[in-house]
Amino acid sequence: MYAAVVHTFDSVPNYEIFDLLQPSGKNEVLVDVLAAGFHPRVRSQANGSHYTSTNQLPLIPGIDGVGRLPDGQLVYFVTPDKFLGTFAEKAVIDLRRSVPLTENANPINIAAAMNPAMSSWVALRRRIDFQPGQKLLVLGATGNSGQMAVQIAKLLGASQVIGAGRDPERLESLPALGADATVSLAGDPKEAANRLGQAASEVDVVIDYLWGKPAERAMLPILMKRSDRSRKLSWIQIGSIAGPTAAVPSVALRSANFQVLGSGQGSVTTAGYLAEFPALIDVITAGKLKVNASPVPLSEVGNVWRAPVKNGKRIVFVPTI
Ligand SMILES: NC(=O)c1ccc[n+]([C@@H]2O[C@H](COP(=O)([O-])OP(=O)(O)OC[C@H]3O[C@@H](n4cnc5c(N)ncnc54)[C@H](OP(=O)(O)O)[C@@H]3O)[C@@H](O)[C@H]2O)c1
Repeated sequence: MYAAVVHTFDSVPNYEIFDLLQPSGKNEVLVDVLAAGFHPRVRSQANGSHYTSTNQLPLIPGIDGVGRLPDGQLVYFVTPDKFLGTFAEKAVIDLRRSVPLTENANPINIAAAMNPAMSSWVALRRRIDFQPGQKLLVLGATGNSGQMAVQIAKLLGASQVIGAGRDPERLESLPALGADATVSLAGDPKEAANRLGQAASEVDVVIDYLWGKPAERAMLPILMKRSDRSRKLSWIQIGSIAGPTAAVPSVALRSANFQVLGSGQGSVTTAGYLAEFPALIDVITAGKLKVNASPVPLSEVGNVWRAPVKNGKRIVFVPTI
């Protein structure tokens, strides 16, 4: 079969023939891959930097996808394997890590949306006791996951959603997705943090895709302007696109009811993720989320791997085009 194959962690995957995989375990089955999303998590898998990496090479990148079982059933699945992934014509899946899709599901939209959408969906439903009517800030709302978070927070009943990010065009597009207000993070970093303090001091939840300096700088301006600092603020660390560490000021934890936690593989069990998939798939299939998918033939993997992605779109590799 053809697959994208990573031979060294510092090079882009090569599109080449790879020995056809064989299912071995009792729940394993070989599927035809129809679509697989190129998520930031896949980049860190392919360059060996993700915290789950085992450094094993060669590897086929890709952590999830939409495929067809030998009996014709369409499924969304996450890979059981850390080094034989979904950027291939076929993949071995563990049926226990798959959910059936209806025939009207759009494979490209599901493959594009599930990973970015599940980041906020799972965080709000599994990591905190999120209540309809609560207010929420999305830090990094101009990214694909951030755009999903804005929409999902509204779907789950948030009374106010504030989207913060750098890209002016995408920031401008957030109100159409449901954002009640936007905050630009462009320009002087201190001024950006103060703008966040002004706009978001009354939120109950922060969904943070940035971490690093932007998060570090924003914590005190937001907390210190709260009308009631004993009201809980849950800061959910989901991505670290602006840096892997952020210094949390001790005063933030003492002088406000400030809860810092994360959401991802490990803090939520695989069973927990799987339990959330059907409801999220229903939402995507019903067209309730705007999905920014950009289908690309898998044979182009080497050309698009390092190319900048336009307009917050999510590339989806399709082996059959
Ligand atoms: N834990 C989970 O369950 C989970 C699930 C999905 C994603 N994630 C993580 O969440 C993060 C975002 O994912 P994504 O899907 O939204 O990625 P994406 O679509 O590639 O978007 C990333 C965005 O980050 C912004 N950005 C990059 N560097 C920045 C900086 N220094 N300061 C401010 N903004 C910066 C850029 O927005 P501008 O163009 O506005 O600068 C970019 O559009 C990634 O780290 C990803 O691995 C985690």
